[in-house]
Amino acid sequence: QELQMNLEQIEKGGYEHFMLKEIYEQPNVIKDTYRGRLHANDGIIQMAGVEDNLEKFLNADRIIIVACGTSWHAGLVAEYVFEEFTRIPVEVEYASEFRYRNPIITSKDVVIAISQSGETADTMAAIKLAKEHGAFVFGVCNVVGSSISRETHAGAYTHAGPEIGVASTKAFTTQITVLNMIALRLAKAKGTLTQSQYHTYLQELEFIPSKVLEALETNQQSKVIAATFKDAPNCLYLGRGYNFPVALEGALKLKEISYIHAEGYPAAEMKHGPIALIDDQMPVIVIAPKQGHYDKIVSNIQEIKSRSGRIIAVVTKGDTQVRDLADFVIEIPETSDALSPLITTIPLQLLSYHIAVLRGCNVDQPRNLAKSVTVE
Ligand code: G6P
Repeated sequence: QELQMNLEQIEKGGYEHFMLKEIYEQPNVIKDTYRGRLHANDGIIQMAGVEDNLEKFLNADRIIIVACGTSWHAGLVAEYVFEEFTRIPVEVEYASEFRYRNPIITSKDVVIAISQSGETADTMAAIKLAKEHGAFVFGVCNVVGSSISRETHAGAYTHAGPEIGVASTKAFTTQITVLNMIALRLAKAKGTLTQSQYHTYLQELEFIPSKVLEALETNQQSKVIAATFKDAPNCLYLGRGYNFPVALEGALKLKEISYIHAEGYPAAEMKHGPIALIDDQMPVIVIAPKQGHYDKIVSNIQEIKSRSGRIIAVVTKGDTQVRDLADFVIEIPETSDALSPLITTIPLQLLSYHIAVLRGCNVDQPRNLAKSVTVE
């Protein structure tokens, strides 16, 4: 028993929980994920699984992404990225819905299955279905040699290392890193980005680990905000564009580990329902980086403010406009719009973590949840 405890302490590397350790590992594991693949100075992205199947990707009528949970959120980010960079139409589906709804799949489709564990039953079933219909199936998995990595025709591993905390953190950001690299490789082949855009994205991707490190410096601030809102019964997360899926993921993190009811919404959809919930008891977390629909999101914040909602805003360093409106602002470093989910998601992970700790929840093993869901 004692030995067991000590071992666990060692594995946690000085952190109180695996989740916190994994949050802090992100600068390094994102680097591990692009190491040997991203050569920004030479303008090269090299991933064997993509290179060997380049024609399949380039001839695809569309890309269908299948996944569950947090991996599905990474898929949603990828939808925005792929369509912007490559102009290939993308659909993102919950694997569980896809497999049972007699979907249209042809041999001209490329299916990307995203799974941290590589063992999720619904995702596996969706892959088998896609293969039966002749689609080319590409896996984005973390666990090497997992069932999904073996079942797919080709793939690219995220090199996040073992993720122990049930709530996914580093798997999410490394999935987004891999998917960005695939999209950039295809964009290069298709000429759908200008040379200068392409090179800028490669450079920006290389800067991401140091910017994640900087975003982690907001930890103390997240703790203070967590103390203010730990007893809230509900929470709303809003984002637009690339950061709409980040809002969904932020809400999922909070639900999973703190058991606070939380919803993620595209900010503009707020007026079609959630706005009715806003009063002075409702914390609203708004992802409002300078790049991407900034003015629109500022007016969304004004709408919340005029209904006395409590505003916690994630903003770009130096922002003044949102600061005047929000109860709390968390400043993060600037990056390009498409890569911003890699940064904006960090303070949301920390916020959920601290809220759950303050509520005395079992952060690493929340009730009723499993790390990988191998049954239906
Ligand atoms: C479970 C986990 C989530 C994960 C989801 C999909 O619900 O608790 O963290 O996002 O499964 O898992 P996968 O391994 O396929 O990414």
